[in-house]
Amino acid sequence: LRNFLTIDALPRSILEEILDTAASFVDVGDRSIKKVPLLRGKTVINLFFEPSTRTRTTFELAAKRLSADVLNMDIARSSTSKGETLMDMLRNLEAMSADMFVVRHGDSGAVDYIARHATPEVAIINAGDGRHAHPTQAMLDMYTIRHYKGGFAGLKVAIVGDILHSRVARSEIHALNILGAEEVRVVAPRTLLPADIDSLGAKVFTRLEDGLRDADVVIALRLQKERMSAALLPSESEFFRLYGLTNERLAVAHPDAIVMHPGPINRGVEIASEVADGPRAVILHQVTFGIAVRMAVMSLCMSGRETEREAAHAAAR
Ligand code: CP
Repeated sequence: LRNFLTIDALPRSILEEILDTAASFVDVGDRSIKKVPLLRGKTVINLFFEPSTRTRTTFELAAKRLSADVLNMDIARSSTSKGETLMDMLRNLEAMSADMFVVRHGDSGAVDYIARHATPEVAIINAGDGRHAHPTQAMLDMYTIRHYKGGFAGLKVAIVGDILHSRVARSEIHALNILGAEEVRVVAPRTLLPADIDSLGAKVFTRLEDGLRDADVVIALRLQKERMSAALLPSESEFFRLYGLTNERLAVAHPDAIVMHPGPINRGVEIASEVADGPRAVILHQVTFGIAVRMAVMSLCMSGRETEREAAHAAAR
């Protein structure tokens, strides 16, 4: 790895290397995350152009557990408000000897754009771009599934809710197919499915009960109202009546099914509190594993670049 932008073009071996590397950072007994010196002397800059609780803080913690120096850019107070362009801001941050940018942006493709135009010395990690991709969220979800289910073979995974606006769903569908899940399902009303859903590698269900039947893993997604025009906003109570996860509805899933959610959760909209706080939910463990998975992605990008540099020096000799 040199950047981590999207999952769809990656081979299974790389995804497994990320999961195995993440596992090496987790203390098995108490699920606490180790501190290691792999990024000592490196500078990581978090650039979040959209709000975030989990992703930004776990990237910061991950960088600190790797012994890197971390800067969190306060975009609202940056000189972009005085007319400075994104690329000029990046050039200035590069001049501060940044080694890695962790970027979240509201526009699909913005992180790819940055990766194409930033100096090649800086690694770029996608922390979520528009509706396009949220690859580290998908990888921490894969870690969580592997942790609780032991692997992916034979698994039926149901992703329920606002698929249309979800970069998480897109990245998860790619990751689950690459890692060999038996069946990847999406469960949503037609109005919340993307036009290209048939080409993504997921089986479509429009009735919740059908999509949940015998599922081993159920992933609930939030209605992303900030990405919908007011005229198209579904009624929250109607959505909960038809697609909200309740214990009663989950009765048709596999008896050992786990329930996941990338967060933030909207209680009483896509998930009832009895489920979010219940024994099947592994939602907060996803957050903890996110630190280890983000450590894995950051350290593999850095070691990939190191290997590349050494190969270039050897070739020049
Ligand atoms: N799952 C996720 O991306 O959460 P945040 O928006 O809080 O980072």
